[in-house]
Amino acid sequence: MKYIIGNWKMNKTAPESIDFMRKLSSFLMEDTYDFNCHVVIAPPVIHLPHCFQFSKEINLAAQNLAAEDFGAYTGEISAAMLSEYVKYAIIGHSERRQYFQETAVILNKKITMAFKYNIRPVFCVGEKEQDRELGNYFNVIEGQLNETIMLLPDEHLSNCIIAYEPVWAIGTGKTPSLAQIEEMHAYIRKMLVLKIGKYNASKMPILYGGSCSVKNSSSILHQNNVDGLLVGGASLDFMHFKEIIECSDTSC
Ligand code: 13P
Repeated sequence: MKYIIGNWKMNKTAPESIDFMRKLSSFLMEDTYDFNCHVVIAPPVIHLPHCFQFSKEINLAAQNLAAEDFGAYTGEISAAMLSEYVKYAIIGHSERRQYFQETAVILNKKITMAFKYNIRPVFCVGEKEQDRELGNYFNVIEGQLNETIMLLPDEHLSNCIIAYEPVWAIGTGKTPSLAQIEEMHAYIRKMLVLKIGKYNASKMPILYGGSCSVKNSSSILHQNNVDGLLVGGASLDFMHFKEIIECSDTSC
């Protein structure tokens, strides 16, 4: 079962999000729809209540959650509040790390909050272009995992979804080669096998994200160890996103 997660980031008005969700939910309800896929949308938080009316067909994710439980944190949204609407939360996205200075300490608090309120983390890791050029990318990803989700008790780690999103591939139209994607996913899987054993590691979804498009999604999804996609820009257009979902059908 593949995961196709659309991360809308800071895009779409309320009417635009409802229109998209209505189209997506009709598509997923069609008799002919029989794809092997969990479809998840991460809308801006203010649209979650509107989008929730479609939650029978479409799972929802938060793009972020507060590191604290409740209290005097102006502007923050807690995991408890989000848990009324979402099953998933994206944590550790490179944009949060870069623009909001989210460090491993903060990310670990967010992961704790997610589990406290039964929200499944979609935990993002990714190397910068310079790390790729210096051949340092395995170390970077290993470090990002070791200082965060690898510290979790095994039952929580096993419940995480990992998204490999090379920073240089996000929003740039550049993607790693299929061999590079497969190599990194296999590396992450190997780390998980060492930590939680082959059976549990094989069940953990490892998604790819970064300039996924209608053109490249099918081939990326068919790589070993790629269990789905975290789609940014191409998830904003219903027709593009629908075609990406169709790629998750194993026959295509
Ligand atoms: P793009 O698909 O726009 O490159 O964004 C990827 C991403 O950051 C998803 O979280």
